[in-house]
Amino acid sequence: MPVQFKGSHILSIDQFQREDIEILFRTADRMEPYAQRRKMTRVLEGAILGNMFFEASTRTRISFGSAFNLLGGEVRESVGAESSSLVKGESLQDTARVLSGYSDLICMRHPQSGSVAEFASASRVPVINGGDGSNEHPSQALLDLYTIEREMVARGRAIDGLRIAMIGDLKYGRTVHSLCRLLCLYDNVRVVLVSPRELAMPEDYVEALREAGHSVLVTDRLEESIAHVDIVYSTRIQEERFQDRQQADLYRGRFRLNQSIYTRHCEPNTVIMHPLPRDSRAEANELDRDLDANPNLAIFRQTDNGLIVRMALFALILDVADQVDRHARPVHWFNPRLA
Ligand code: CP
Repeated sequence: MPVQFKGSHILSIDQFQREDIEILFRTADRMEPYAQRRKMTRVLEGAILGNMFFEASTRTRISFGSAFNLLGGEVRESVGAESSSLVKGESLQDTARVLSGYSDLICMRHPQSGSVAEFASASRVPVINGGDGSNEHPSQALLDLYTIEREMVARGRAIDGLRIAMIGDLKYGRTVHSLCRLLCLYDNVRVVLVSPRELAMPEDYVEALREAGHSVLVTDRLEESIAHVDIVYSTRIQEERFQDRQQADLYRGRFRLNQSIYTRHCEPNTVIMHPLPRDSRAEANELDRDLDANPNLAIFRQTDNGLIVRMALFALILDVADQVDRHARPVHWFNPRLA
């Protein structure tokens, strides 16, 4: 059964069917003029988003907040566990009971796997998982797949039949966990999983891909893995999940991609993706800045798409998707984006 977005928590990619993704993506298409400030709408006027980030974030937190604002809603934030009463021993359930009295929808990030689901179990309003430990990051996977669809369509292709290499810390990287689950909804995908053996993709994700009928290759060799794929999806070593920095340093910089490696090994037009932040420190430099001039680098198209996919999630969950265009108004101020 397709998910009923209205009033639903968004906790895991497991809750979606392919039809849901189609509804979400076609709703996201309609959000683009509003995200680009070509038009404005106030369909969420009076609604409050509780943006609760108990772990570091730049794009997820700000894009959730901006997406809610762009639909006319207000945003209240809590940033960092140390500034919340969780440090006084308050439970996630009590926190949820309190915050769901103040908000109409809550986005939450927390360092423990399963924490957002625990929070949601006591919330009176819908909760979106903005990343729970190394478990899942469903809205990131949705914006990643939306980007993949757009990039493939521009090349006369579709998600079905996709060839993708996921590279880096596949053990702790929650974005690739959610993306694997999402790809299981599609047909005939070839997935190459490139990581140090110690940071390999957990077996249940590999099994799920194989059960979906996909071809899966697990390897620690970068250059041959990127040779025959449509998408190279690089990820950061998730230092915050390691015991200490020295442990992360053992793997940092193991899989660097730069323009010279891309030119030598990738097919022309191979799309380069990364959920960001990319680790640009010299010892990591996982996606070299010399790729910034490569038109196939889609990392900032991903972040722009994050805004419209998150607007679509809000519009569907709060059941205003059909009203957005009806309440559209022109924008009168100077728009530097369009200049
Ligand atoms: N991709 C992502 O989750 O980025 P942030 O950690 O900056 O939110």
